[in-house]
Amino acid sequence: MTIDNATQIEFWNGETGRNWVTHDALMEAMLQPLGESVMDTLAPQPGEHVLDIGCGCGHTSLSLADRVGAKGSVEGVDISAPMLAVASQLAAERNAEHASIQFHEADAQTHTFDPERYDVVFSRFGVMFFEDPVAAFANIRGALRKSGRLAFCCWQPRAVNPFMTVPAMAALELLPAPPEMPPRTPGPFAFEEADYIMEILTSAGFGSVAVTPLQQPLTFGRGLSLTDIVERLVQIGPIAQMVREASEDLQQPVRDKVIDAVAPFYTEDAGMTLDGQFWQVTARR
Ligand SMILES: C[S@@+](CC[C@H](N)C(=O)[O-])C[C@H]1O[C@@H](n2cnc3c(N)ncnc32)[C@H](O)[C@@H]1O
Repeated sequence: MTIDNATQIEFWNGETGRNWVTHDALMEAMLQPLGESVMDTLAPQPGEHVLDIGCGCGHTSLSLADRVGAKGSVEGVDISAPMLAVASQLAAERNAEHASIQFHEADAQTHTFDPERYDVVFSRFGVMFFEDPVAAFANIRGALRKSGRLAFCCWQPRAVNPFMTVPAMAALELLPAPPEMPPRTPGPFAFEEADYIMEILTSAGFGSVAVTPLQQPLTFGRGLSLTDIVERLVQIGPIAQMVREASEDLQQPVRDKVIDAVAPFYTEDAGMTLDGQFWQVTARR
């Protein structure tokens, strides 16, 4: 099954995009260590030119800009106007001694990039939504210089990610399971199979492709009460859609179930910490 990019554009410009903006600080606190770890592997050097695919609210672009310094540049590409508005605002608040940062509202699968412009391409969870991933990565590859390198992270299967399964199993005690998406459907878990990632990047022309497991605990809602954390989880977390579609009389009982399930993973200081299993993918043009 596929989901076309026009549907993704609608999705990321609708409630989902607006929710990411509302919960930007929470999401960033959770995802930042993972992005930094992939950047450490990619190791952008001072003066390099970087492309950040699916840059969202732009935090990774800013961090990449710190790494490449005043002589480098970073361009972030995303299809979500509300998320890019946050990114532009963050970049505007920075002072001028950093690398130049630009954001483009564009579909990375079809956007006409300047050929061979970038030294490195990075993405934190922004490359699993393409309708035609081989075409998208071939397009992105054309934007890389001859010696250029790529690094991104993506989710391993939902079933090995307690961040996904612990709240979901609790909610499913009261709610019907949502329809299962066939494997490889564009979405967060499209790249759950390492072999499929290999196949896509190789078909797109990349070399030296490496898909490495990356384990990183996810800390969600530092400083929030358990009740507030669950309230955020039903707005932007793994059970958001399920709970949104549930009847009024089940809203509180579902929340109570989820509170009980995540309580063992909660501390007042750290919020909720659940393990996450990801792929770190690196390749060369
Ligand atoms: C899970 S979010 C990750 C956002 C950001 N990289 C982060 O880690 O906070 C996925 C992002 O990919 C973007 N995206 C999805 N399809 C895209 C496409 N075809 N071209 C560019 N961006 C895309 C979405 O708009 C969204 O911002």
